Amino acid sequence: MTHVLVLNGPNLGRLGVREPEIYGHASMADLEREAAVWGSELGVTVDVRQTDDESELVGWLHEAVDASAHVVLNPAAFTHYSYALRDAAAQVTTSGLLLVEVHLSNPASRESFRHYSVVAGIATGTVAGFGFDSYRLALSALARKLQP
Ligand code: DQA
Repeated sequence: MTHVLVLNGPNLGRLGVREPEIYGHASMADLEREAAVWGSELGVTVDVRQTDDESELVGWLHEAVDASAHVVLNPAAFTHYSYALRDAAAQVTTSGLLLVEVHLSNPASRESFRHYSVVAGIATGTVAGFGFDSYRLALSALARKLQP
């Protein structure tokens, strides 16, 4: 069965409390529940994780490569400056695995420092601006791309 790691970077553990006008009122626990349902509908196993720690996130990307797991990644603020994360994410896609970059908000319509993603250039694709639906769309695109 296809295995997908849904990895979330810093401050996303504060969903529901953090700037709800931008990120909504639902929590990371709500995302875990919803992603499990989407995964079972799509026939993929989904493992949702969140960390504020760059090295832990890098380690999870290494784990994805070693376990041949595809990745849905919301790098949060690391999106805009973490070359370590980009290099780890590049190992996923150069291994032939899929990696979809997701964002709840649309960074392109926000402050200028959010306009550049260091991850986008090595990602399979990007979905941004649809709240939790960004994750649902990413999982569904990933599952469809993997169909024989
Ligand atoms: C975010 C957008 C980033 O710019 C920001 O730093 C986040 C969340 C999003 O999901 O919209 O933490 O990745």
